[in-house]
This record gives sequence, C-alpha cells and structure tokens, in this order.
Amino acid sequence: MSSNKFNIPTVIVVFGATGDLMARKIAPALFNLFIKGELPKMFRVIGVSRRNWNHDSFRQHVEAILQNHVDRLDKKARPSDASPDGDPPTSLDEALRAGAGAAVIPQFIRYFFYHQGHFEERKDYDGLAREMGLVDTEWKVCSNKLFYLAVPPENYKTILTFLHESHLTDPCPPSLRSGAGRRACSPEEGWTRILVEKPFGKDLPTARELDKLLGTLFKEEQIYRIDHYLGKEMLQNIITFRFANNFLEESWSGDFIERIDIRLLESIGVEKRGAFYDGLGAFRDVGQNHLLQMLALVTMENPRAFTAHAIRANRARTLSTLQIPSFEEVRRGTVRAQYSGYQAIPGVSKGSIRETYFKVRATLVSPRWQGVPVYLSSGKKFPHAVKDITVTFRHPTPCLCPPGDHVQNKVIFSLEPEEQITIQFSAKVPGLAMKTRERSFDFLYRSREARTQYVEEYEKLLLDCILGDQTLFVSTPEVDSMWRFTDRVVEAWEKNAVPLKTYPPNSFAISEELTSEEVSSIKYQVSGKTNQTVGVIGLGKMGASIAKQLSEKGWNVVAYNRTQSIYETLERYSIQGTKSIAEFVETLPRPRVIWVMLPAGKVTGEVLEGREGKDGLVGLLDKGDIVVDAGNSFYKDTIRRAALLKKKGVKFVDVGISGGPTGARRGASLMIGGTRETFESLKRLFQSIAAPRGVAFFPGVGAGHFVKMIHNGIEYGMMQALAEGFTVLKKAPYKLDLTRVADVYNHGSVIESRLITWIQEAFAVYGENLRGVSGTVSHTGEGKWTVETAKELKLKLKIIEEALKFRIGSEKNPSYMGKVLSALRNRFGGHA
Ligand code: BG6
Repeated sequence: MSSNKFNIPTVIVVFGATGDLMARKIAPALFNLFIKGELPKMFRVIGVSRRNWNHDSFRQHVEAILQNHVDRLDKKARPSDASPDGDPPTSLDEALRAGAGAAVIPQFIRYFFYHQGHFEERKDYDGLAREMGLVDTEWKVCSNKLFYLAVPPENYKTILTFLHESHLTDPCPPSLRSGAGRRACSPEEGWTRILVEKPFGKDLPTARELDKLLGTLFKEEQIYRIDHYLGKEMLQNIITFRFANNFLEESWSGDFIERIDIRLLESIGVEKRGAFYDGLGAFRDVGQNHLLQMLALVTMENPRAFTAHAIRANRARTLSTLQIPSFEEVRRGTVRAQYSGYQAIPGVSKGSIRETYFKVRATLVSPRWQGVPVYLSSGKKFPHAVKDITVTFRHPTPCLCPPGDHVQNKVIFSLEPEEQITIQFSAKVPGLAMKTRERSFDFLYRSREARTQYVEEYEKLLLDCILGDQTLFVSTPEVDSMWRFTDRVVEAWEKNAVPLKTYPPNSFAISEELTSEEVSSIKYQVSGKTNQTVGVIGLGKMGASIAKQLSEKGWNVVAYNRTQSIYETLERYSIQGTKSIAEFVETLPRPRVIWVMLPAGKVTGEVLEGREGKDGLVGLLDKGDIVVDAGNSFYKDTIRRAALLKKKGVKFVDVGISGGPTGARRGASLMIGGTRETFESLKRLFQSIAAPRGVAFFPGVGAGHFVKMIHNGIEYGMMQALAEGFTVLKKAPYKLDLTRVADVYNHGSVIESRLITWIQEAFAVYGENLRGVSGTVSHTGEGKWTVETAKELKLKLKIIEEALKFRIGSEKNPSYMGKVLSALRNRFGGHA
C-alpha cells in the first residue's frame, strides 16, 4: 500500500491510546494515510494506557472507531465532491467510492498493538522498551520512533522524564542494538520524536518550564508542538496566496491596509470539557495559539524559501513584534463575555469569570504593520460557525468614485462556513449614471462536504512528523511570544480591566460589540469626514510641497507664510493663504491641526513661542489643538516646547521628515515622536504625506526628532565618504569618467544608493568639475547635535565628528571634496 517516498520503518507510541484524541483524530488520520498509501511499509502503532486490555481488545476498539469514521466518509464520498476547481479525486475518494474503506479496516488494524502501563510507573517504560526492541529485532532495523502524548498536560513531565530515563528516546539505544540478527543503526535511522498537544503550558512561566524540561531531554528537531490550525488547508493556502502571487504583496502593509479581523466563532459550546475549559477560558484555549498563528501567517514577511526553518523563523519574527499591551490598552482594546448557561456545565465553577467569547486588539511593532489593528475574536455558542480572516484596505485618496460611494476593498480568507477566498471591490453599475456598487470575486476552495474536520489536519501533521518536516509545528520562540502577549491580556482581565458581559447563546449580538478603541476611532472618522482641515505654517520648499500633496489628497489646507507672494503660485492647489498667524488660527476649525514646517531653532522658536512681547502660536491656541513640529528641531527644544504647550492643553507631535522637497511632494519618510494617542489620531494625515511604509512612531516626546537627528548624523558620514572617494577618483592616475563610475556603482553594487544617484545628477548639471558649486559646505545643526549627544551618552564618534569638522573647516578651505558635498545637498535638499 505504501508509496511513501521515504518509507521509513516507523513505530508510533501513543500515550493515552484509549482516549478521545485517538478516537477522533489519530486513528482516523492514520487510516486515511494508509488508504492513500502514505504510511511506511514497516509501520506499527503501540497504544499505551492503564486499562487492562490486550492487543485484541485494543484492535476491536480501533476497529469500532474506524467503522464509524468510514460510515461518515461514505456519506460524504459522492461524485459531486470533486473540488470546485477541478482537482482530481484523491485516492481516498476513489477508495471510498469503490467501497474499499470498510474492507481495509481488518488489514489496517493489524498495525495496532497494545501495551498496558501506568504513566507514573518507571518499570512500565522498561517493558515498553523491551517491546520496541522486539519490533526492531523482527524488522532487523533501528526503527524510527514517534512518541505522541495524547494525555492531559499534567502528565507530560512524568512521561517525558521516564521516557528519557528508560533510554526510549535515545537514537537506537544500546539495549536495542544487541538482539540476535540485529545490526548497528545508520545515522538516518533510529530517530525519536515527541509530539506534544496544546495547551503548551498555561502561561509564560509554565510554558517555559515545560520547554526547559523538553530542552534538557531532547533536541529542538525532535520536538513537534502541535497547533492543528497550522494543518488546515486554508491556512497553508494563505502562504501560497501571498507568496506565489505577486499582485497584492506590494500593498500588503499598513500603507494600504486599515485593519485585519481574525474570527473563530463556533456553534458548539464547551460541551463536556467544563473543568478543563474553565481553567483556561477562550483566549488561552484558542487565542494564544490558533488565532495568533493565523495572525502570523497573514502578516509574516516572505520567507523566500519553502523550508521549515525559513517559515518558522518568519512566523516567529512576526509574533515577536506583537506589542505587549498595557492595562490601559487592554481596557480600550478588548471585550470579554460568557454565554448564559455556561456556569451550569459540569466542571465549571459557580461564579466563574472565564470568558467564552473575547475580542482583543493586537498591534505589531514592525515597519510593515505599524499602527494597523488586528482584531482577534472567538467564542462559543454562535448560531453557526464563522472562521475567517478579513483584511480591510484603506480608501484610495483621492477616490475616483461618486461621493458617498466608497467601498473598502477586502480580502477574506474563510475557513467556515465555506473554504473560500473572496476579494471585494467597486465596479460601475451599467447605465448612463456614474454609480458604483460593491462586487466580489469568490474562489470556492472546496465544498464543505469535501472536508473531514480534524482528521485531515492530523493526517498532514502526522505525516510531516514521520517525514521530519517541522514547518507546521510551533517553535519555542513562537510559544514564548504568544504567551507573553496572552498573559498580559489575561492579567488585566483578572484585574477587571473590562467587565465580563453575558451573552445569549445562538445569537451573533456579542460579536458586534465594539472595543472602546473602535468606538473612538469611528468618532474620529466621522469628525474627519466633515473636518479634514489642516493648517501649514511655512511654505518654503518643504512646506509648499507638503501643502500641495495634502491638498491633492483631499485635505483642506489653510496656510500661513511670512512672504505672502508665494500664495499666488499655490492658487491652483486651492490652498487658502492667510495674512497673519492670528487669522490663520481663526480660520482653522477646532480642534486645530497645525503642521509647522519652519527652519529649526530661532524661527520655529519665535513662531511657536512668540517674540518681543508678541504672542506666538502657543498663545493663540486652545485646549485640544495639535501642533506638529516637522522641522529639524533639537530634541531637547522639542521636550521643552511640548511641556509649554501641555500647560495649555495643546498636544504636540515631533516629526522628523526625510526625503527632501521631492519626498515632501511625493512621499517622505516620517519619524514620529510624542504620545501614541496623538499619533493614532493623526495617522491619516501622516499617511497622506509619507512614502509607502514611510511612517514610524517612536513613543516619547522628542523621539521623532532624535531619530531624525541621528539620521542626519549618519547622512554626514555617508556623504563625507562619497565625497572623499570621488575626490580620489578624480585625482587617480587614470583619466576616469566619473559619471560612468557613479553609474556603474549604481547598478547592482553594494554602495548603490540614492546618494550616488544625486552625484550623477550633479555631474550632469554642473559637470564633473562641479563648476559654480561652492567648495564650502553648510551645516544646520544636526551633525553637531549628534556628536554632542553621543558625548553625553559617553560615546566617541569618529566618522560623524570628522565629517562635521570638515564642514566647519571648509569655510576657510574650500575644496573639490566640499563641492561634492554641496552638490549633494543641492540635489536632495534644494540647498543653494
Ligand atoms: C481547540 C479548542 O484547540 O480548537 C477548542 O480547544 C476549539 O475549544 C477547537 O473548539 C476549534 O478547532 P476547529 O478546528 O474546530 O476550528
């Protein structure tokens, strides 16, 4: 029967073999694999349990399980079950259609053996070892061994320790090598693997304890931690959908995606698992594992290779960026509830505060997902099952659609009720009028009948474990990150961060409940629609570019600039110029949002704080207004100004902006500091200005300006290196064509960069001698501040400090090197 290409002699030892897991998942899954010809030729299952059974009674038990399984499959196996996209029927379908299912049961159960044993009796493991030795003697190989712990977690420690002590988990232990007719094992033979079910611990400390135990007894490549969701077809398909196609991955980020919703709503209740479930609650039962794994798959970076190592590492990387929520964030970002009647379930404690439904907001601290909320929700006792991931895209701005006709694009990966991928989009309604309507592409992956829940997942997982492929198994770093996040939420709930609500069974009402975060974001959107006005102070190269960009993206822009002739040039952008700061402030609707784009230092200081007894902006603003300082202010000035504004209840955000006037016009890089709340409230504004993925928030007043200051320090050093290199090239004993050199550097080399592009531009404009370009280089402060800040931090900078000294010295000693630097500043920053 076997077509398994590895065909590895394998023994699976199942602890807890008379239990539920064996009946519902393991035996049926192995049976399916057998029919599909995927099991090794030399194969055996040894069931371990304390019941006083023998091989025959165990086989009868398995036979009854399989008969049941086949009956159910027979009902499903109709010709209409061929998958909708025309995949050929599987060997399992064919076998069942030919009525072969029941016929092969007697043949299959011969693989099953029984070993009576108590988990806590050391000697019973020796007996098992002897039995396994006999198998190897009979097969004349060192068989591979898979130990499956289908037992409650409290038994893990005892079983793992005794397995180890009795040498059962050694690769081909010495006691097994000595039998008559046996030979020594080759390195490919005699591996042992451990399969552990969830829950893997009940919080971070217990998970770590278990992991430590596993780690001292086994190597990571021997440990297979099961999350059966990873075995689900649709979840594996997310990787294919994202990485085997190229049409969405570019927009798969916070620049285009507004939010992600992951739902696992079940129709079943807690059933007979009262005591177990009551010890955990819904979030630890499915949130900590299944939902977070779904999150990992939908947000992970491209692993670039279909290897277990690459995929697991990227899942782990994504999970490690889960922001650990504060108490306040749990309060604002979660809902928890219990269905009425739950407390009457046997095993559930009276007055239990365990949730059977939750909604939890998660965010990832990564450049790709910064600020995108991922809502995880799950619960029991809904009218029918809904399990899906919905990725909601932002509105395009400007949207070429009739007013009010916005449809947000969505991609939905659905596991239940149907396995399906849906893409929602806008299309024109046929006819003379320009009206749009929501339409969708639906791809039905498989019909509901074609699934055999659990069995299919376990088929895949068991086979992968036999083959030694860990892709679909959870690694230690993943477990760690998932618990770290989960624990914080549960802790806050235990301190009653949000009230535990009650919900009626068989209704979806509770799933409509919003977190307070969602409620306030809706309020913001509503006010945003009627009041999308922003004020811009300072219409220099940067400010004017930002004002134009904002206006094109649908914002009403009110501006103030000291030299007011600039307003004429901005007429076609409908930017409303004002004559004085007072008029500017009066024109803006409240709460005002003011983008200050002025030269750092004196000018920003005067405009914000006032001069010669005159009120600055600060004096004119009201509580709730927001000032964004996007100039290159020194971060310590920023801290001081933020405090000044705070006294008046005015909020302050510091933004470091990079990309020069072109960036400001087409999309810049924004480094944002201040409080998260203010950042969140202005996210749309930032996204309107930034390049794709060009928004990053760093908590703390002044953090944005700090990051920008260091950016400029680095820029000093990089520019200096280029200037030095090109000066040497110019003086080289060869007659080098510098434009050619710059061009070849910029095609595939290690130092390919935007800076070199600007050198090329400068050569094109001014010639290679950079005629007319000053050999003296200006500096506006950030290089100096970087060096000083480093000193305060007891760090000695060499490159940046020298670059700064060079600029200072260039005043008296203009040079070609200085010209290269000035030319660069001219190209990217429009400096004279
Ligand atoms: C299990 C949980 O891990 O997953 C159950 O313990 C839950 O409470 C089940 O019902 C959901 O899995 P599936 O495959 O039915 O969606």
